[in-house]
Formats: sequence, C-alpha cells, structure tokens
Amino acid sequence: MEAGDKKELLGESFQGTPTVVPSQPTHTRKLYLESYGCQMNFSDSEIVASILSDAGFSTTREEDEADLILLNTCAIRENAEQRVRARLRQFKQAKGARPHLVVGVLGCMAERLKESLLEQEKLVDLVVGPDAYRDLPNLVDQVHGGQKAVNVLLSREETYAEISPVRLDANGVTAFISIMRGCDNMCSFCVVPFTRGRERSRDPESIVREAQELFEAGYREVTLLGQNVDSYKWNIDNKGVIKDEEQPVVRFAELIDRVAHVNPDLRVRFSTSHPKDMTDDVLEVMAQHENVCKYIHLPVQSGNSDVLKRMNRGYTREWYLERMESIHRIMPDCATSTDIISGFCGETEAEHQDTLSLMEMMSYDMAYMFSYSERPRTLAQRKYENDVPEEVKKRRLQEIMAVQKVHAANRTKSYVGRTYRVLVEGTSKKKEDQFFGRTTYNTVVVFPKEDAQPGTYVNVHVHDCTPVTLIGTITQDSEDA
Ligand code: 5AD
Ligand code: SF4
Repeated sequence: MEAGDKKELLGESFQGTPTVVPSQPTHTRKLYLESYGCQMNFSDSEIVASILSDAGFSTTREEDEADLILLNTCAIRENAEQRVRARLRQFKQAKGARPHLVVGVLGCMAERLKESLLEQEKLVDLVVGPDAYRDLPNLVDQVHGGQKAVNVLLSREETYAEISPVRLDANGVTAFISIMRGCDNMCSFCVVPFTRGRERSRDPESIVREAQELFEAGYREVTLLGQNVDSYKWNIDNKGVIKDEEQPVVRFAELIDRVAHVNPDLRVRFSTSHPKDMTDDVLEVMAQHENVCKYIHLPVQSGNSDVLKRMNRGYTREWYLERMESIHRIMPDCATSTDIISGFCGETEAEHQDTLSLMEMMSYDMAYMFSYSERPRTLAQRKYENDVPEEVKKRRLQEIMAVQKVHAANRTKSYVGRTYRVLVEGTSKKKEDQFFGRTTYNTVVVFPKEDAQPGTYVNVHVHDCTPVTLIGTITQDSEDA
C-alpha cells in the first residue's frame, strides 16, 4: 500500500516498524509494538495501542525497556513469516535475562502458527488473532498468572467501530481509517480469507465521525482501508448483514461521497479496489469531488485470462482492460497502480508475456510486484502444483520490474512542467530545508520550505524530477491539477 515517505497500503513493506504512544502518569507498563505487512496491519496496531492504553500501557521505541513486546504479523508470503520468526528468536534470548517480559504474536500468523509458536518452538507467551484484540488486557493478565494465552477466534461482526485508534507515528496530516475487515473473495493464492475471516463492513456513521474528528485535529488526508473496498455494504437495520435487498444499503460510492463532504480541504484516498467489483458510480463520485484524489490502486495480478481463472479472480484480461478504460473515460488524468504476481501455478512463458503486454498498455504509475509464494490451506495449494521453478519466477519478476521501472520514470517525467496543489506532509528525509508532500496523483514532490506549514496546501511548480520524485518550488500561480 505506498513507499518512500509514506508506508505501503495493502502491498508489503516488510518493515518491522516500532510505534509509539506518549507516556502518561497512569500508564505504568510499557508496550513495544512492531508491525509487519500491509497498511491494514498498521491500522490494526493503532486499535491495539488504544485498547492497551486503556489498560495502563504506554508505548516505547526501546525494546529494552518494554514489559510487553507484540509483533503484529503478516502471513501473505513465506518470507514475511520468516522475518517474524527470526525476530521472535531474538526476543526469546532477551527473555532469558528478563523473566517478566511478555512476548506475543498478533495478526495474520496467529491462527495458523499458534501451536508451533506457543508449544513446539516456545517462542511466545501470547497469540492473538485479528478479531480478538479486545481480549488483550485479559490475555496479558493470564500470562502474568503463569499461563500461556491464546485467542484466535474470528468474528463475523467485529469491526472495532467505536474504538478510537491511537495515531501511532503520526505526522498529524495523513491517517488511515479502516472501513471493513476480512475478505470473501477466495483468490486462490491468498491466505487472507483464512487469517482475517469473513468480510464485514463498518458502520458508515462511525467512519464519517472518525474522519470529522481527524479533520478537527488538523489532519488533511484520510485513506479508507479494506481488502476490497468496492464490496463495502452497510445496512442500518442489520448491522451490516444484508438480509433483504429492499432495505436501504450504503455502498462504497455513497460512503466516499459522505466522507468527501466532511470538508473540501480533507483529501480522501482509498485502497484496495477490486477489478471485478469496481463500478462506474464509484468513479463518478471520485470525479465529482475535487478532494477525492485521482489515484486508483487496481491489482491485476496477471495479464492472462487463463491464469486469472486459476487465480479465481473473477474477471478476464478484457474485463480488466474495460475497467481501466472506464477510469480514464471518467477521469482522464487519473493515476493508477497495480499488484502483479509472477510464476503462479502453471504459468507458461506466453502467459507471462501477456502480463508484460498488459503492463505496456496500462503504463502504471506504480506497481507492487511479487513472485508467487505457496500458502498453506489456500485453494491453489490444494488444487494446483506450484510448478514454476524458483529461478523462472525470479527471472519473470525481474522482467516485470524492469518494465515497471521504465513506466514509472516516464510517468514521473510526464508530470514535470506543471503546477500542482500539494498537501504538505513534513520535512523531506534527505534535505532538512525542504518539505515533501503529494499531488492528487500520489506522486511525492519535494520543494524548499519557504514559509509553508505541514498540514496546509501549497501550489508547487514542478521543474525537475528523479525517477520517482518531483522537484519544485512554491508558486502563487494557480494549479493545473
Ligand atoms: N504470493 C505472492 N503474492 C501474493 N499476494 C497475495 N498472496 C500472494 C502469494 N501467495 C500479493 C497480491 C496481493 C498483494 C497484497 O500481495 O498481489 O494483491
Ligand atoms: Fe486476498 Fe483476493 Fe481478498 Fe485481496 S481480494 S485479500 S488477494 S482473497
């Protein structure tokens, strides 16, 4: 889900990022929380920090002073799991010298690995799945009482709707709002439906309220998060469970509209869209609101219809092309990005070429690119042989990345020479006297600070670029985009 100055959205960052809540006098215990994987996990960590803050924990960046260490884990590819295991082994050593230290695993690895982490490898004291975070204070007490503690029950209702997330590592300008949980799609390569359970949408009132509160606190951009935001659906009478199609239902287009109305100065982004469910009414709402950013992340996964069928994605190459055409018809300037997997089961050289040719047609601004990693319990693992040799997967991935590198650089270059409305996010990592911010197209721009402030909008004339970053200066001229 985003690179560079911002964390990834639903793509992987593989960064174990420590997160911090300021200490308060009543908070006597210290929590060290590290998050892996997609932006949904980072967003969940903010819920976890909120629940544990109410139970008397403040967070720390120093693992050495923690009473409780939690890793919010990702299971989407095998290497994500390996990184977490290596980290847990380090913590196990630390426990030798600090017997009261409690170490726990949260998130997507919890369900699948509870036995092995707790009992066989004895790496952790606590295992908690993504729908059981409200139980964390009890479970921590249980560990203090001398027991191992586990809760990996998945729920059909939990959305943590009324829990006010503690904004971790906040820049005070951009924030994530989780609008739904779980996934019902069953893409054959994907472990998410098993680790995060059934899809459920969150009450729109609580989403709009959260956006309003963020705006009042000075935030100027929200990203609405879900595994498949286009299937967002809420029925007031049934707490999101749709029993009778006659009943009034809030769908994603209406939700964006409501959030966009919070304030014209609040930018709205979202992730992730699904090609089989993305409808024109969503695109039309985006076009109507200047503050809904003109950027869509639409994962294609493969450019070949047979591969897409084996992936159980629910669309063909032609359908995908038609959806992209709609995006460009309704919003001619809209930027796009995608996810691609190389070397899925049975992928032939010709099928791989179809992915490259689709990329040539789309010329994405950005892409998250992966080689296929077989995951336990998935449809693909049960039904297909993981038969593309690792070196072939890697070579195809290199080819995909090489094409994308050229396209990204061309896209960046094409933005030079115009003036953009930029939301100032903070000081550039490389140059103290420069700010960075983003255009509506999600491209990072750096420019001399002058007297701008983070959390405000400035017009920036872009006169140069690196392959991924625009370089400009603040101008009084009106923006082109
Ligand atoms: N192997 C490789 N990539 C995967 N993704 C999901 N599951 C797998 C897997 N088993 C990728 C998809 C998805 C993104 C979040 O991660 O491209 O869109
Ligand atoms: Fe996984 Fe597919 Fe759901 Fe995305 S839409 S989380 S890839 S099952």
